[in-house]
Amino acid sequence: MVAHVVPNDLSAFWMPFTANRQFKKSPRMFVAARDMHYTTADGRQVLDGTAGLWCVNAGHCRPRITQAIQSQAAELDYAPAFQMGHPKAFELANRLVDLAPDGLDHVLFTNSGSESVETALKVALAYHRVKGEGSRFRLIGRERGYHGVNFGGISVGGIVSNRKMFGTLLTGVDHLPHTHDLARNAFSKGEPEHGAELADELERIVTLHDPSTIAAVIVEPVAGSTGVLIPPKGYLQKLRDITKKHGILLIFDEVITGYGRLGTPFAADYFGIVPDIMVTAKGLTNGVIPMGAVLVSAAIHDAFMTGPEHLIEFFHGYTYSGNPIASAAGIATLETYKEEGLLTRGAELGPYWQDALHSLKGEPHVIDVRNIGLVGAIELEPIAGAPTKRAFSAFVKAYESGYLIRTTGDIIALSPPLIVEKHHIDELVDGIRKVLREVD
Ligand SMILES: Cc1ncc(COP(=O)(O)O)c(C=O)c1O
Repeated sequence: MVAHVVPNDLSAFWMPFTANRQFKKSPRMFVAARDMHYTTADGRQVLDGTAGLWCVNAGHCRPRITQAIQSQAAELDYAPAFQMGHPKAFELANRLVDLAPDGLDHVLFTNSGSESVETALKVALAYHRVKGEGSRFRLIGRERGYHGVNFGGISVGGIVSNRKMFGTLLTGVDHLPHTHDLARNAFSKGEPEHGAELADELERIVTLHDPSTIAAVIVEPVAGSTGVLIPPKGYLQKLRDITKKHGILLIFDEVITGYGRLGTPFAADYFGIVPDIMVTAKGLTNGVIPMGAVLVSAAIHDAFMTGPEHLIEFFHGYTYSGNPIASAAGIATLETYKEEGLLTRGAELGPYWQDALHSLKGEPHVIDVRNIGLVGAIELEPIAGAPTKRAFSAFVKAYESGYLIRTTGDIIALSPPLIVEKHHIDELVDGIRKVLREVD
């Protein structure tokens, strides 16, 4: 029996990344979920086209994960994260290292994607310092990049509205150009043909600052939150080559692309490129419990393991790093992925997903459709003088019609749970087609 919870006062909760006044005038409340669907407060089923916020990769309320959380909470609720341990954190770390591409051998746990990003940036800076190269203090991000909302992340990130209100941010940061190029790449299927040369900008930036001042380059292999920007063919390999040549660490932010989104365990597998540091969160616990994991190479880890053994090697960590319940959820999630083949399901379904999405070409307002793995985007022509309004109307209309989509700017971004079936894809795409024909 689903509880029909309709709180009568919505004012206290200042909602994140939400148009609060609009929401509170006509709230959109979920009260339950199972597999591919949410249930709304008024008892409607809503098809999840976004895996929650790109995180519920195995679908909702999966029994193995629920059970693991319940048992763990009853057995060991919390163990201090500093100077003490518990077995499940070690077990989860081992499983992650097994799953990750060769060369990523150690794991630091966090509680979110944002914290994973901060952790990765701090590891990168400290690594150069322990190696005696403390002059490497610069960090390079990319325009339109999203790396969470903490100060390091918004500094290397490149989404203007996430940065402009917050002062000077981190110093010593530069940005690569973004790779979005509708003039040359509109309606690309998979990786676009044009734009690998944009990676050469890294050489220019490196030359400008001198390689000896640069610690790391951080990019999302596929930029998600800015509206699904898929890297041009050859682009990421160029970044890998240039960073390697200059002794600069390459950080892949796989908070969205990790755990099967592209039809491989990680984007690093999809593109055949191993970064020095890999940032993950979201799908690690199927979104059920907040947790992130940062994977680093042995070379990075080992550089810290010097000096007297009673001393702490890296002054960083969180009260909840490797929390027992989160660790149990992570292990159960990885088991669910494995048992059901979910980390490669995107490869099987990718062609069907691609054809379905590209059938929206020619519908009203559509200026681009793009896809990779089980990710898709439909870019809409903005209303003159009112950017984002059209996509927001589409989002609200889709919700009212029984589909959860996500919009960012005037782009509809889609990323269904990896348990999605072909009939769900048809339903979602037809639902969006109808919405596009109805919105102004
Ligand atoms: C690539 C990337 N990095 C970092 C984050 C931040 O994650 P969180 O919201 O868990 O802090 C996100 C969230 O969408 C993301 O997409």
